[in-house]
Amino acid sequence: MCAKTIETKDITYEGLLQGNADWIQDMIQADPDYFDKLSAGQHPPVLWIGCSDSRVPANQITNTMPGDIFVHRNIANVVVHTDMNLLSVLDYSVNVLKVKHIIVCGHYGCGGVNAALGNKQVGIIDNWLRHIRDVYRVHQLEMETMKDPEKRSNRMVELNAIESAANVVNTSIVQNAWANGQELSVHAWVYSLRTGKITDMKVSSHGINDVHPAFKVSL
Ligand code: CO
Repeated sequence: MCAKTIETKDITYEGLLQGNADWIQDMIQADPDYFDKLSAGQHPPVLWIGCSDSRVPANQITNTMPGDIFVHRNIANVVVHTDMNLLSVLDYSVNVLKVKHIIVCGHYGCGGVNAALGNKQVGIIDNWLRHIRDVYRVHQLEMETMKDPEKRSNRMVELNAIESAANVVNTSIVQNAWANGQELSVHAWVYSLRTGKITDMKVSSHGINDVHPAFKVSL
């Protein structure tokens, strides 16, 4: 059932379509009704907010299937309150799909986080990565005690995931869901490209009492 392993350099436009045809065959072979069932509707219990990095695909690294995870990805898994794309995904997944878990998943070695730690101009993306510099400023004292570049990068990845998860908690969408008695938890995870392992940052929020007073919405 597993798709054949192919080197990234061998991927071609035609190859993608062939891969699709192969995959359809595999899935139907395992379950002839697979696509009928899948097309009937989706009830994913999880919203994933992750990095666009090609090496961190939500389904593969959690051993899940199509239909299991609702996904939003952007460069460096940044959550900002003015991002209509993210807010729309969040609103739909919480209020329509009624997901039970929202997971912000960063990853060590994140190019976006590393770019934010440096001073080099990259381009338009610098404006996006400014949000990570804001996270740095909040945690400046801790970050300044670290001199080793890899340790600094790793910690920044963790802090960025933690702050993004806090920004999810601080939305009126999540707080209203809790006020309405909806079961919903928000988590921060970090994935290791080197080992494939996910580490739970253990900062999960489960209700209105987990919201910092400065961000509590009057309900
Ligand atoms: Co990344």
